[in-house]
Amino acid sequence: MDRIGPRLAVLRLGLGAALTAAAPSAPYPIRAAQWLDPPQRYTALSSQPAECAAVPRDAAERQLFEIGRAAFRAPLLLGGQAARSGLSCASCHSNGRRNPAFRFPGLSGDPGTADVTSSLMSSHRGNGQFDPRPIPDLAVPGKVARARGDPALETFIHGLITQEFDGAEPPALILRGLGVYVRAIGRPGCDLQGREPLRLANLTQDASRAVAASSHAWRSGNAAAARLLLSSARSMLGLIHERYAAPRLASDRQALLRADLGLLAVEQAMDRKDTRVPAMLAAWQTNRRWTVPLARDEARSLFAAANLTRSLAAISRPLPARDAGSPH
Ligand code: HEC
Repeated sequence: MDRIGPRLAVLRLGLGAALTAAAPSAPYPIRAAQWLDPPQRYTALSSQPAECAAVPRDAAERQLFEIGRAAFRAPLLLGGQAARSGLSCASCHSNGRRNPAFRFPGLSGDPGTADVTSSLMSSHRGNGQFDPRPIPDLAVPGKVARARGDPALETFIHGLITQEFDGAEPPALILRGLGVYVRAIGRPGCDLQGREPLRLANLTQDASRAVAASSHAWRSGNAAAARLLLSSARSMLGLIHERYAAPRLASDRQALLRADLGLLAVEQAMDRKDTRVPAMLAAWQTNRRWTVPLARDEARSLFAAANLTRSLAAISRPLPARDAGSPH
């Protein structure tokens, strides 16, 4: 039987409520809108906090940083219902930081809170206690020690993935990468209040970086890690696809689909342990033709401020999160 943790049972309930609330009109194309506080939706979907990451200078360390960065954005890392809903670390820790608009039915109380650590931090493990906490900004030192060499951070992240989110045991390389990535957030001197606009280019670059990280993992013999990182790239293509939902943008969606099929082909080649995997990944990276029509039509997509504003105004408010999924 499916291993569904207590927190995930709540998550499932919450999602059901969110989907019901979206009916009878067609669901809003950007899935994350379902778990964003309505007054903050526009801000959360049009911009993100500055990452404020201190990218390591050392080449090997930088590879780990990139692996962690892509894993941080991969819903499949979390597994279970979280993965099916499209939640990743970055859903709560937006761009590595903090998402003040996060309000997932059944998981959040006030906006910017989530109940993720009760089974780790309290003795009430698994008793269904609803105990949402503010999502911390990872740029600010928190309660989990982050000194290099102290495994507390990796232990915490491992518990999050496998206990709270029902994820599979993460490959060791992924866990190391996540540790390096999280430790790098909070570059001294970075403007912590700064936000950057969320554009097509952010997501195409993130996808490309995830593919590069996947290639590195594959070349170092970590097939499971490589596959997860490829799934991160594919879910980024999915995040672009949502923004080109308008009927007249069908050819853009086709271009995205072809790019995604290219990654699917690599995934299958990985499963066959095909020696051409590195060449296929390199070819995918070089062939950026798929981005051309998307860039041309960006102003007609939901990356454009006016379209986003108009489309958000048209959707009705979902059920209040607190009523939707209380486990009691
Ligand atoms: C559903 C929202 C959510 C998701 C998804 C999530 N987190 Fe968190 N995270 C939180 C909350 C809430 C806390 C604070 C818990 C507390 O105060 O007890 C937290 C705490 C942390 C901390 C501790 C910060 C400190 O205080 O030192 C780290 C590190 C962290 N998360 C990393 C991650 C990573 C890595 C992932 C993905 C594997 C992840 N989080 C996924 C909500 C989330």
